[in-house]
Amino acid sequence: MAKVFIKTHGCQMNEYDSSKMVDILRASQGYELTELESEADLLLLNTCSIREKAQEKVFHQLGRWKKLKAANPNIKIGVGGCVASQEGAAISKRAPYVDVIFGPQTLHRLPELITSACNTNKTQLDISFPEIEKFDRLPSPSVDGPSAYVSIMEGCSKYCSFCVVPYTRGAEYSRPAESLLREATALVAAGAREITLLGQNVNAYHGAAPDGGTWSLARLIACLAEIDGLERLRYTTSHPRDMDDALIAAHRDIAQLMPYLHLPVQSGSDKVLKAMNRGHTIAHYLRLIERIRAARPDILISGDFIVGFPGESESDFADTMALVRSVNYGQAYSFKYSPRPGTPAAERAQVDEAVKSERLARLQALLKRQQQAAQDAMVGREVSVLFERPGRRAGQLVGKSGHLHAVHVAGARAEIGAIRRVRITGSEANSLAGSLVG
Ligand code: 5AD
Ligand code: SF4
Repeated sequence: MAKVFIKTHGCQMNEYDSSKMVDILRASQGYELTELESEADLLLLNTCSIREKAQEKVFHQLGRWKKLKAANPNIKIGVGGCVASQEGAAISKRAPYVDVIFGPQTLHRLPELITSACNTNKTQLDISFPEIEKFDRLPSPSVDGPSAYVSIMEGCSKYCSFCVVPYTRGAEYSRPAESLLREATALVAAGAREITLLGQNVNAYHGAAPDGGTWSLARLIACLAEIDGLERLRYTTSHPRDMDDALIAAHRDIAQLMPYLHLPVQSGSDKVLKAMNRGHTIAHYLRLIERIRAARPDILISGDFIVGFPGESESDFADTMALVRSVNYGQAYSFKYSPRPGTPAAERAQVDEAVKSERLARLQALLKRQQQAAQDAMVGREVSVLFERPGRRAGQLVGKSGHLHAVHVAGARAEIGAIRRVRITGSEANSLAGSLVG
């Protein structure tokens, strides 16, 4: 049987797309996934261009695969994802040994592209945007553990001035609700207990509904919560502009919706938010956080931050530090601004690299303290944990709490897929330790 190896860069959307590539290659051409590059007949690279060094990383990886292909010319190499979408033909120019180049919206055409590459011995390129077609052409999802993902929307039309996503993944497109309900029901029947709804801008979801209308994310969540056996729902990632009243109320009313919210704000300065084209103010964001916490007091707030955006002064950065202190994040990601080719902010005067590094270090130290404090505060409490896999030590299981903390306990393998009450006994660097209750 032919074997495929996939290397994935970037976000959860890319991880999701990679799993779909395996599904479609398995269904249409009988490919089997391998963890070993050396035994693969097909090497796929799913690329990301959200931050720096994306291209170099791609050509570095391709250079290594070129050697494998030199030793075995039957090997095929494919490049997908956002770098492929942006660079297209430039990839085949610089790496002519690549057989197939495809984008996030054409991964469902992979079997045909590979067949054509085999038949013609020429590089096949398809980075078009036939959005609506993609999801109709994918086989039924496969389940790998009790926690599953469903991509409910693709692309983004917000055009934040730093971000490449609208160019690489295309305009925002919401999948019809009915096909999502069908997909979720099938995943639960196959053993999923938790579903995370994915999208670059997932709370902007507005999909065609079975009743002829349009459903918001809150409405979709309410419907999904009715699926028997689906115990947990999550969604990521969101924009403050699309956090509507119904979605806030869902955090209060829908027990399956976990108390965790990733709501990137990027900066604590109104001036910088404006330059980023984020379309809201800090006051708006703070008011949202207040209302979300009123609806669900135990919710853990997570976010993304960019430091050193063009025009960010020391005082703008101080505003970001002040915002972080006032919100108190349970989890957060922070990055140095990286100019992305083709985006408006890349053309502006840039902040010095050393200044960016120094600001990032200060911000990360603060966020790390908050994250650790949130984790430490769990010690002594009882929480529900969904067990996902065996731990590294014998007799150990790893699962996730509602707050998305990794939790280790001693327990039997048969508990994988179960949700159990756990008393938290310790807090380590990146996980909690606990013991089963009762
Ligand atoms: N530079 C740095 N960080 C970026 N992000 C997106 N684009 C850039 C960029 N050009 C960050 C944002 C976003 C997260 C997914 O990646 O914080 O929320
Ligand atoms: Fe990029 Fe902004 Fe869209 Fe998020 S909302 S994907 S940061 S353009």
